Amino acid sequence: MDRFVIRGGVPLHGEVSTSGAKNSALPALAACLLTEEPVILHRIPAVRDIVTMGKLLRRIGAKLELKAGALRVEVRSIASPEAPYELVKTMRASSLVLGALVARAGRARVSLPGGCAIGARPINLHLAGLEQLGARIHQEHGYVEAQAPAGLHGGAYSFERISVTGTEDLMMAAVLAEGETLLENAAREPEVGDLASLLVKMGAQIEGAGTSTIRIRGVARLHGAEHAIIADRIEAGTFLIAGAITGGELVVADCVPEHLTALILKLRQAGAEVAEVSPTSLRVSAPGPLRAVDVTTQEHPGFATDLQAQFMALMTQAQGSSLISETIFENRFMHALELMRMGADIRIEGRQAIVAGSSQLTGASVIASDLRASASLVLAALVATGETVIDRVYHIDRGYQRIEEKLARAGARIRRVREA
Ligand code: EPU
Repeated sequence: MDRFVIRGGVPLHGEVSTSGAKNSALPALAACLLTEEPVILHRIPAVRDIVTMGKLLRRIGAKLELKAGALRVEVRSIASPEAPYELVKTMRASSLVLGALVARAGRARVSLPGGCAIGARPINLHLAGLEQLGARIHQEHGYVEAQAPAGLHGGAYSFERISVTGTEDLMMAAVLAEGETLLENAAREPEVGDLASLLVKMGAQIEGAGTSTIRIRGVARLHGAEHAIIADRIEAGTFLIAGAITGGELVVADCVPEHLTALILKLRQAGAEVAEVSPTSLRVSAPGPLRAVDVTTQEHPGFATDLQAQFMALMTQAQGSSLISETIFENRFMHALELMRMGADIRIEGRQAIVAGSSQLTGASVIASDLRASASLVLAALVATGETVIDRVYHIDRGYQRIEEKLARAGARIRRVREA
């Protein structure tokens, strides 16, 4: 298993570029299952979760080909409408193939994801929604089987709580269903909007994606399309925090500033300067000391749970006491324990963390427990004195494209040590 060795204390300068969004690329790949024609996807990030999704699609019957930086996906027929446990256990987003498979093949068998490092993560809402569209759901031996031999029909479904992949899964099921589907209390994340624009290019009829009410009129078939994935707002946000935490001046290029509004507001309240230097790039700097601010994670457009761990690292360097409340996942503070081993002063009370700063962090050997937790440890290491060794960086490779190379180009002393 690879590890990162980081020597902190260097303010980051220069420019880093943002890759395509992992959480947009994953549903886009699942959407390729909806047509027998080729779909060409640009800006697919080179991260491990995408490799896992590629493996899953191949098992299902897809042909994937990387050509001049674009991924061509063709699913002439569904060989096996199944997502096995070996793949689902390493990536919960595998359940995204459920809706598309029932819609295209009338049947899907997907391993139940089970819990993970950040919480229980059930898919009950995906299943309840599919039932509203006429699928028969049966669970056995750790698998869920969904059947609609005569095809799905339109229906109305209101999410009991907002689910990003739940909304995406049902959108993919509804585009080929007969009649109209109304999804209420739908997720408004930019990734949902991006999936809708791909589906519309494929011939789907969707209105309202990006709002909490989505209306879908089913069509008989979808066709091939070409689409570029949106920028990864979580990666861009991680870089903004990297610029601020090191007291440097960093330009984060190829991003979508309006997807980062909640983070930018908090960064400014904390004393960082964030300026839009072009419609697709932001410059961050932190000329003075940082101040503590409170943060509560929320669904989009609120403060993203996927940036909570990174913001906590920043708050260890801010003067005063910051209250961080996690409302989306029940167990997303694993990074706090590792940050404390580096010298942070953090108290966890249920779903709230109180961070007292600022603390002089010191390098230590730490272990990453999930993707965003790893990113927060990298950020902490960038300001710690001495050397930090972060183990199990395969977590970070799941969602960040060569983060060490991007940070090193901005001056960070970070290297990957490959385990034989
Ligand atoms: N939930 C249910 N039942 C369901 C679905 C969700 O109770 O059927 C609960 C979850 O347990 C959670 C909450 O609803 O407490 C929200 O979960 P959601 O379904 O929105 O999460 P997700 O779709 O599984 C996506 C991202 C996550 C991100 C969350 C929240 C993808 C592939 N994953 O997960 O990204 O944290 O939305 O924004 O889009 C990451 O990239 O590091 C990551 C974890």
